[in-house]
Amino acid sequence: MNDSIIKTIAVAFSVCLVCSLVVSSSAVSLRDLQKENKLNDRRLKVLQVANIYDPSISISEQFSQLESKYIDFESGRIFNEYQNFNIEEYDQIVATKDPNLSTSVPASEDIAIIKNRENVGKIYILRDDINKIEKLILPIRGYGLWGTLYGYIAVENDFNTVSGIEFYEHKETPGLGAEVDNPKWKSSWKGKKIYNNNEVALEVIKGKVESSDTNGIYKIDGLSGATLTSRGVTNMVAYWFSDSGYANLFRELDYES
Ligand SMILES: Cc1cc2nc3c(=O)[nH]c(=O)nc-3n(C[C@H](O)[C@H](O)[C@H](O)COP(=O)(O)O)c2cc1C
Repeated sequence: MNDSIIKTIAVAFSVCLVCSLVVSSSAVSLRDLQKENKLNDRRLKVLQVANIYDPSISISEQFSQLESKYIDFESGRIFNEYQNFNIEEYDQIVATKDPNLSTSVPASEDIAIIKNRENVGKIYILRDDINKIEKLILPIRGYGLWGTLYGYIAVENDFNTVSGIEFYEHKETPGLGAEVDNPKWKSSWKGKKIYNNNEVALEVIKGKVESSDTNGIYKIDGLSGATLTSRGVTNMVAYWFSDSGYANLFRELDYES
């Protein structure tokens, strides 16, 4: 009998088996592609923040214009080898989960709420035709309202002027905190100064920066209806340009040049 219960179960079971095989095999076969797409997305942001992205050229080809370097946050020194890592694959966010590769940030210093900071970071250097540093592309991250925002900030060779900012991952609300991705807002960072008298001064304010404000060079318009995200961005700038972040790197590079 074709409608016996055993047959019904057997057909349902076979359908389930076939479907699960299809799903699991496509998940496995697409894993490498997903990994590559994620890497390319980050690289795209790095190229965009450096303002050198050309959509007519492949991302990996353009990325080779940049020098990837490790940075020791304690000393500010840059170097090319770190343990057995391949620099292109070294993921400093993964390193923050390993107590041998990271240091927990004391609560009193943890203004960006990152909890652990990798001992060794990864930065990108763009050099000009005569091999002088033109820009540094530096990863930054910090807590907004709903989660951690991850991005890059590009800094000119005076190690004080911002040349761009991009976020590649965050959980902020579209239309509110997610306006960190608004091209107009991002472009307002270009030319702003990070330090005033050796202190981090750059901040996202509440409201608009007045054109008459003599300190406007250190100020970015607040994201409307998103004061908490704006504050998160201010805090991440304050953290990553302090002595716990890139300040030691800037001193080292100044000393060398
Ligand atoms: C559904 C919802 C989503 C929100 N998303 C954000 C956000 O992404 N970033 C943010 O700073 N505030 C967000 N807020 C607003 C905050 O709760 C808070 O009111 C706001 O940051 C205060 O900023 P304001 O003084 O500019 O209004 C959201 C509020 C609601 C109800």
